[in-house]
Amino acid sequence: MAKILLLHGPNLNLLGTREPQHYGQITLAEINQRAADIAVAAGHELTARQTNAEHELLEIVQSAVADGVAYIVINPAAYTHTSVALRDALIASDIPFVEVHISNIYSREGFRHHSYFSDIAQGVICGLGAKGYEFAVQFALAQLEREAGG
Ligand code: DQA
Repeated sequence: MAKILLLHGPNLNLLGTREPQHYGQITLAEINQRAADIAVAAGHELTARQTNAEHELLEIVQSAVADGVAYIVINPAAYTHTSVALRDALIASDIPFVEVHISNIYSREGFRHHSYFSDIAQGVICGLGAKGYEFAVQFALAQLEREAGG
């Protein structure tokens, strides 16, 4: 059984009511439940965390190493475009990750077009709505299976 960490950055606690034209109606609790169901059905464990605080994201990523997390699915939200610190934490952790964005950041304001994570992520899913998280977890599971020699 492998541990997957689903990590959400700032303002994603507001999903359901926040800018539905970009993020839809789904809540974070529903996203987390769907992701956990997919992981559990494959015999793995998924823990979801959300915080608005950059330093807490760093601490969660740092703790993930000690916790034995094998894979991270992360939506860094607005920190995508600003956080060298979170980038460095992910590099230091050496845990493979997929970057997810609910909206298509490339069809939005120019400042959203740059990500501090895309070049170090195994992959990026963006613009597929909340489904993107499900695809990311499925990809993580496939990677874990591959590593386990399955
Ligand atoms: C987001 C896109 C970011 O630009 C934005 O700051 C978010 C959410 C997305 O999921 O589409 O908070 O990461």
